[in-house]
Amino acid sequence: MTPSFQDIAEHVVRDYRKRKRELPWRNCGDAYSIWISEIMLQQTRIAAVIPYYQRWLARFPTVESLAAAELDDVLAHWSGLGYYSRARNIHACAKELVANYGARLPQSAKELRALPGIGPYTAGAISSIAYGQQEALVDGNVARLLSRVFAIDADIKSSAAMKELWRLCAELVPARAPGDFNQGLMELGSLVCTPQNPKCSSCALRSVCQAFTSNRVEQFPIVKKRIRDSDKTLLESHALFLRRRGKILLAHRQAKGLYGGLWELPQSCARAQLGALTGMSLRFPRATSLVHEQVLSHRRLKIHVWPTAASGSLRPTLGSSYQDMRWHAIESLAELGMSAATRAILKRSAELE
Ligand code: ADE
Repeated sequence: MTPSFQDIAEHVVRDYRKRKRELPWRNCGDAYSIWISEIMLQQTRIAAVIPYYQRWLARFPTVESLAAAELDDVLAHWSGLGYYSRARNIHACAKELVANYGARLPQSAKELRALPGIGPYTAGAISSIAYGQQEALVDGNVARLLSRVFAIDADIKSSAAMKELWRLCAELVPARAPGDFNQGLMELGSLVCTPQNPKCSSCALRSVCQAFTSNRVEQFPIVKKRIRDSDKTLLESHALFLRRRGKILLAHRQAKGLYGGLWELPQSCARAQLGALTGMSLRFPRATSLVHEQVLSHRRLKIHVWPTAASGSLRPTLGSSYQDMRWHAIESLAELGMSAATRAILKRSAELE
């Protein structure tokens, strides 16, 4: 008989209560301490976090004391942990909690996710561990563990695999002791279901683990080889930055292919072709003031952006690349479908003035 999700959850909770490490933020039930510890634990090992966590709690024991502190003081207490945007976000979040939430972290994962620096993982952790809410979480350890238990045959880093893992966790997480369950999954992932030489003989999920029972533990998680950025094909192009009476000229890509159906600055692989593309007479500056680089999954883009003077009216040559080209009011740009590269270029367009 295949085990039910309830059986799996019970195995995990029982194992956690036997196996769990005593850590300073465990068993306190205090959302503030749990929040700080979970943010510190991102990208940082438990042993390295403990002294930082203790110094932090001694200096900023409450949300109010953190919100009232100077950013310099906050960063000084983070100094050495790395990824300083985490500390800046914690500080901004504390201020928001004081301003709008009575200096308390909200209970629901949905509300938590709306706060600075709190993503789906941290929201799930705070909500389940501090408040006992039936909320799921997936971190790297949980992803590896469940990719083995359920023999997930998609690349573990792909959005399809992540979606499936979150779906499984949401079904697995029990109404009773969701925090113990979530921490139990993380403990199993980090202590037992390790990347190399997993200790399957002492795993609480051995009997239900599809990878173990089919003798394929070494095959999971599936990790697709990634292309190094330097090996990706470089696509270089020239983009026209043209403004007229509060409007900007944009081109609409054909539906198929890279960036299909999105709007962008009219582009060509040769600057000299931009005149023919728009039907206008163009006068380019001597040098571009903006070169945008973007790394995609298989390619690197380098876009030279040319703020240009133009005369004549727009008579575009449409064809294999573009289905439309027109002037758009600057206030309406937010409503258009655009790639991250185009949005970044438009955001940086002040550099072109
Ligand atoms: N890694 C990050 N947070 C954790 C937690 N609460 N329990 C176990 N491992 C973790």
